[in-house]
Amino acid sequence: MSICILGIESSCDDTSASILCDGRVLSNVINTQQIHAKYGGVVPELASRAHQQNIIPVVKEALLIANKELSDISAIAFTKGPGLLGSLLVGSSFAKALSVAISKPLIGVNHLHGHIFTHFLRNKKEQDFKAKFPYLCLLVSGGHTQIIRVNNYTDFDVIGTTIDDAAGEAFDKCAKVLGLGYPGGVQIDKLAKNGNSDRFKFGKPKITGLDYSFSGIKTSFLYFLRDELKKNNDFIKDNLNDICASLQSEIIDVLIEKLIKAVKMTGITEISVSGGVSANSYLRTKLSEIGKDNNWNIYLPEKIYATDNAAMVALIGYFYYLDGKTDNLNISPQARIVL
Ligand code: KG4
Ligand code: ZN
Repeated sequence: MSICILGIESSCDDTSASILCDGRVLSNVINTQQIHAKYGGVVPELASRAHQQNIIPVVKEALLIANKELSDISAIAFTKGPGLLGSLLVGSSFAKALSVAISKPLIGVNHLHGHIFTHFLRNKKEQDFKAKFPYLCLLVSGGHTQIIRVNNYTDFDVIGTTIDDAAGEAFDKCAKVLGLGYPGGVQIDKLAKNGNSDRFKFGKPKITGLDYSFSGIKTSFLYFLRDELKKNNDFIKDNLNDICASLQSEIIDVLIEKLIKAVKMTGITEISVSGGVSANSYLRTKLSEIGKDNNWNIYLPEKIYATDNAAMVALIGYFYYLDGKTDNLNISPQARIVL
């Protein structure tokens, strides 16, 4: 009999549900909340309300696409954190109620754990798409920027992390200053395609070891724009593509420099990338080139699994289910948890 996991993700502004049977994704429905765009960032209160509205339709759709009934579900996996507490509460309360209603086990999943394994998720049948342990995972999202040594399915060492902002956050905050919508990373990626990345420099962080820092780039970007706008009121409009290309290459180059350092330090050449920023086209192209030149094996997630999704939650739920590890009903979500 198939093992089918219903995954539920509600840590931030995506309400998502997925059905994963025997490790294969049958559906992955994502409702990205549009309400935050006009505020230039996620408004926690509005996110919780939108999750409340979306959760049942999203789960129903995931079952429908997968052609499964609730009675086919072996377990319910949900994101227990990290994330916005009000948002997490919606997903966890729903998962608990459903677990009682259909008498199926409950599995709480660390959202970051999900991101680390997203390159395992494939809709197409392909060979050799899974990195071999131990591998290095560059996890770059709106809330996290880390280099993780992944020893096996449940054992990790974080060997580098941001000391201030996450890379996605730097993209989003700079995009906001440019008057682009939220989330800004995608807009910057699009506009950068027609820009000159060597045109402007914003000053790279000088942090030793494998840690990152992005608050400096953000601040110097802000001062740079302020000074240029004093000289030309239309500076942003006149130079938008070059500004985006220059900013993007500065952020991505910092990410890659530390990754190269991590490879040198650990000798590990199996590399995966995950999190929303792993959808970035410049990062994907550059890493693939570096991989080829240096004989590294690079594993990129399909774009749909780069940003937040429930398939990654279901996959970790599947690992735990096979190990017989389930949670009881007093599990409660936590806004801040580490790997
Ligand atoms: O993983 P994710 O969906 O949510 C978090 O867990 O944070 O990541 C969202 C982040 C946002 O900061 C967004 O701007 C960024 O990923 N992002 C991108 C791209 N697509 C999403 N950043 C750069 N280029 C992209 N194409
Ligand atoms: Zn995420």
